[in-house]
Formats: sequence, C-alpha cells, structure tokens
Amino acid sequence: MNLFTQQTVILCLGVAVTLSKTEPTAELVKLSAVDSLIVPCHQSATLRCDLSTFQEGLSIYHMAWVRQDGRYLCDVNATGVMGTHPGNTPSAMECSYTPHAQLTLTLLQVQPLEQGKYLCKLRSSHGVKEATTTVKLQECYGEVQPSVSDEGPTCTFTEVYPDGEVHWFQGSNNVTGDPKIKTIQVKDGMFLTITSSLNRKTVSGEGAYNCSLWIPSTGAYLTSSLVPEHGEARVEEPNANGAGAIGFPHRTILVLLSTLFLV
Ligand SMILES: *[C@@H]1O[C@H](CO)[C@@H](O)[C@H](O)[C@H]1NC(C)=O
Ligand SMILES: *[C@@H]1O[C@H](CO)[C@@H](O)[C@H](O)[C@H]1NC(C)=O
Repeated sequence: MNLFTQQTVILCLGVAVTLSKTEPTAELVKLSAVDSLIVPCHQSATLRCDLSTFQEGLSIYHMAWVRQDGRYLCDVNATGVMGTHPGNTPSAMECSYTPHAQLTLTLLQVQPLEQGKYLCKLRSSHGVKEATTTVKLQECYGEVQPSVSDEGPTCTFTEVYPDGEVHWFQGSNNVTGDPKIKTIQVKDGMFLTITSSLNRKTVSGEGAYNCSLWIPSTGAYLTSSLVPEHGEARVEEPNANGAGAIGFPHRTILVLLSTLFLV
C-alpha cells in the first residue's frame, strides 16, 4: 500500500517535470536553414531559409540573408517588398522570396572569399529569430597541362583551390625530393596557377614522369597526369633499331593518355 502511493507520486512528478519543460520553449515561429554547404568551385550555392509559423497573424517586420561581415544580401521589409544588394558579395547572386515561407539566396559562382557564415535573420511580431548556413568551397583545379622540353618535364595546374603542392613520380618511384624541381605559384584572381618543372632529361625506357597535385588541407591527391616522354631521347635506347618509327606512335599514345586524364 505504502509502496504503491510512493510510485504514484514519483510518476506524477515525472509528468509535471515534462510539462513544465516543454511549455516555455513551444515556438510560435521557427527559422530553419541547412548547417553547411560544401560547394564545388565555379558552381552555384542555394541557401534556403524556411519560415514556419504555428499561429495565425504573424507580421514580418524584416527578414534577410546577411553575410558574416554584416553586409545584407537580400532583405524583405514589412510591406513584403524584397530588395537585393548584389554589390555586397564578389560573385553574381540572386534572391527569391515566397511570402511567409522562404527566403532563398543563390550565389551563382562561389569564390574563395565568399566562404563563411551566412545568417538568415527575422524580426516579427512573434520575436527575433536567426538561422545560419556555413558555405565552404570544395578543393578544385581547372586543368592540368603536362609538357616536356629539353630541360625536362613541366606540369601546370590552373585555377587551383586551396594551396597545393606538386609531387613527382617516375613509374612507381617518388622523386619529389629531387633538388632540381622548381615549383611556382601565381595568384590567378581568387585561385592559383601552379607550375612545377623537373630539370631532368627524360630518357625513354626509364618510365614516364607523372605529376600529382597534393592538397595539404585535405591530405589527398586531387589529380595527376602523365607527362609524355621526350621522343629524341629514344636514340639512346640499346635496341634503337627503327627508333624514329616506334618513337612517334609511342609518344602519340602517351599524349592521348594524358588527354584522357584531362577529360
Ligand atoms: C612523395 O614524396 C613527398 C615528399 O617527400 C611526400 O610528401 C609524399 O607523401 C610522397 N607521396 C607518396 C605517394 O609516397
Ligand atoms: C601518378 O602516380 C601516383 C602515385 O604513384 C599514382 O597514384 C597515380 O595513379 C599516377 N597517375 C598517373 C596518371 O599515372
């Protein structure tokens, strides 16, 4: 009997606690946006801010997408008129608004400087709310241009983001430690152009050189390319009979191969 009463009391307490916990946090208006977006370079990012209300008669005083530096990109005023501020972000942008439902910001070609936090802000008759989306750019490159000269092989990687290193291989040998490698990084707008040259004669038969783009921040190779072997070097081959005739198709195949890798 005593035990039964005790249990009932505990049960009632439990219910009371849950009730008092949920009641004050019941929201009349809610904003939601995805936490983060990872965008491939040169592509667009669409940031949606969804508004939901659980009570009639919500008045919106102001709703906006704002950059982390405080610059407004799109906003809607109390009369429901939307304004856009394209000068506040480096790439082209668009906004759209569905009354009382959604404010969407589209960054048409996300650039490195546009990474960071974007805030969706609302001031309404039911209070102030905020939601945040973080935009991050995926690592990328435009193209690889492998070439070979009398000095040795060279690879140029265009429109690289973020910083990269070039590692060289000959067959399966990692020759990155070779002191005759010169790598130059040039800013190409928001991106980098990385050119790496290995001052080493390419002798056919020793295996083709391969340049690979290493991205330290991701700890992975982003791409790699075989450099065509130098045709003239074929003469040094022991069985050089008809070297000219074999040499040319061989080189053509390698060029084709590296073209394939580019695609
Ligand atoms: C090649 O060598 C470089 C420099 O020593 C090193 O950082 C890299 O991890 C090596 N790569 C592979 C695949 O062994
Ligand atoms: C270049 O070398 C790396 C490391 O050995 C290898 O993973 C990659 O597949 C090679 N790329 C080409 C195009 O041969």
